[in-house]
Amino acid sequence: MKVLILDTPDAVSARAAGLIASHVRDKPDTVLGLATGGTMETVYDRVIALHRAGEVSFAGVTSFNLDEYVGLPGDHPRSYRHYMDRKLFDHIDIDPARAHLPRGDAPDPEAVARAYENAITAAGGIDLQLLGLGANGHIGFNEPTSSLTSITRLKTLARSTRDANSRFFPDGETPPRLAITMGVGTIMQAREVLLVATGEAKAQAVAQVVEGAVSARWPGSILQMHRHATLVLDRAAAGRLELYDYLMDVHPE
Ligand code: GLP
Repeated sequence: MKVLILDTPDAVSARAAGLIASHVRDKPDTVLGLATGGTMETVYDRVIALHRAGEVSFAGVTSFNLDEYVGLPGDHPRSYRHYMDRKLFDHIDIDPARAHLPRGDAPDPEAVARAYENAITAAGGIDLQLLGLGANGHIGFNEPTSSLTSITRLKTLARSTRDANSRFFPDGETPPRLAITMGVGTIMQAREVLLVATGEAKAQAVAQVVEGAVSARWPGSILQMHRHATLVLDRAAAGRLELYDYLMDVHPE
């Protein structure tokens, strides 16, 4: 794991966006795995700015998002499809036909999950997977006790995850109980992984992911077994790492 600790959340967003852009420049027909959540909003703002500055084109890119709420149609304002359209896809030159999310409102979500896993394989697999981190250690919507070899499937969300995400449901609705998510195994198949975490609320999960035992208790800890994983953290998210000084020393900037 390469663990980069930067001063501010803003610096984290800029670095993550820069890594995504340089990856796409190196391989214009790359397959990106994309993520949602509050942390990604500022990352995507930076990606859009790089695109507008002419520094990166997504015209040849295919993307697969990690997850989607079951039961929400794509035009629902709280769906991840809606999030991705508004916060990224509408502002870059990606071909909408190649920007994939699982369909949350399909009559048979389990069939959607199976087809999604197959579509990732058919596209040649994911080159770079972007990840946030749940305060409980989840990646995608792979909650604690998720099989570390799981593939795309339905998951029941933890109460703590639904509470954390209720801030995106301001109109009295509650987050759905079920989601379709890439599995931990799906994520581990990506050739490269980039996890972004900021803020003190993530510090315990970050410490477990980086320094704890590899365990389904903290699903992100499986990234210790990935050959090419980069974590970009701010000081607050890195605040509970025993190896903080060492990590600052090996990657000073
Ligand atoms: C959500 C998403 C995850 C995301 C995580 C962190 O539940 N399914 O993919 O990484 O929670 O979200 P945030 O950045 O809002 O803390």
